[in-house]
Amino acid sequence: MLILDDPQQLREQIKQLKQQGCEIAFVPTMGNLHDGHLTLVKAGQKKAAAVIVSIFVNPMQFNNDQDLQNYPKTVAQDCEKLAAAGVNIVFTPSAKSIYPKGLNAQTYVEVPFLSNCLEGQLRPGHFRGMSTIVNKLFNLVQPDYAFFGEKDFQQLAIIKQMVEDLAMPIEIIPVATKRAENGLALSSRNSKLNAAEKQTAPFLATVMNRLAADLQAQKTELSQLIADASSELNNAGFNTDAIHIVDAQTLQALGENSEEAVILMAAFLGKTRLIDNKVVSLNNHQTKIQA
Ligand code: PAF
Repeated sequence: MLILDDPQQLREQIKQLKQQGCEIAFVPTMGNLHDGHLTLVKAGQKKAAAVIVSIFVNPMQFNNDQDLQNYPKTVAQDCEKLAAAGVNIVFTPSAKSIYPKGLNAQTYVEVPFLSNCLEGQLRPGHFRGMSTIVNKLFNLVQPDYAFFGEKDFQQLAIIKQMVEDLAMPIEIIPVATKRAENGLALSSRNSKLNAAEKQTAPFLATVMNRLAADLQAQKTELSQLIADASSELNNAGFNTDAIHIVDAQTLQALGENSEEAVILMAAFLGKTRLIDNKVVSLNNHQTKIQA
C-alpha cells in the first residue's frame, strides 16, 4: 500500500493506474477509522481494481477551532487498518498542500438549498466546506466510483446533487450504515463516550425505530411524534438537539407527493453529539401527514 501526502505524486500514480486500465474506487475520510469505513472500502473493492482512501481532517468544514483541534487523529493506526484491508493508496495531504493560499482565499463549491437547511442551519458553512473538499479530492483522485455512508444523510444528498449539477463523471455509491449489535450506528464519535454513555447510546436507534413505526402507522401528527421521541431521549439521559422528519429526496417539508420520509436525529450524550437517520416509505398514505 502506498501512503502519499503530495498531491503531485498522487496524480502520477493515478495516471499510471488509468494507463493500466484500472477503474478507481474512492473513499474519502477524515480518519479515526472504524468498521463503517472498512465497509466502504469493501464495497469499493467489489466495484474497482484500485481503491484509494483519503485521510484529511478538513479545516474548512469545522465551525470552531476547538472541534478541529479535538478531532481524533490516528493516521498510523488508520493506515495499518487500510493496509490489512488491501487498500492500494492512502492519500494523507497536509492542509497547506490542499489550501496553499489559506481558507479565506479558497474557491468554494456550495450546493444551494440542501446545504442550508436542517444540519446546515445549525452549522453554517459546514456543508460548503464539505462539498469544496470533496470536489477538490474528486479532481485529484479522478475516481470512477466514490463511496459514502448513509449515516451522513444530508452530506450524501449534497454530494449526489453536486455531482449531477457539475456533470462530474463519477458514480456515487451510498453504503448502508454499519451498526453495532445493539443497534448503535458506528461513528468516530462513539470513541468519546464514557462507559455509562456507551450503555445509553443505542437507545437513540431504539427511539428512532419506534418513531419510524409510528410514522408509518400514521396515528399521530408529526409534531407530536417528534415531541414524544424528544422527551423519551431526554428522560433516558440524552439532550436532544434536533429531530426532523422531511422528504427524503428534497429534505424539505413532507408534501402530498412525498414517497419517502427521512427521520434525522441528533442528540448529545454528555459532550458527544450522536446522529442517526432512517428512511420510511410512506406507502401512498401521505394524505394524513400533517406537519
Ligand atoms: O464524512 C466525512 O468524513 C467528511 O465529511 C468527508 C466526506 C471525508 C469530507 O471531509
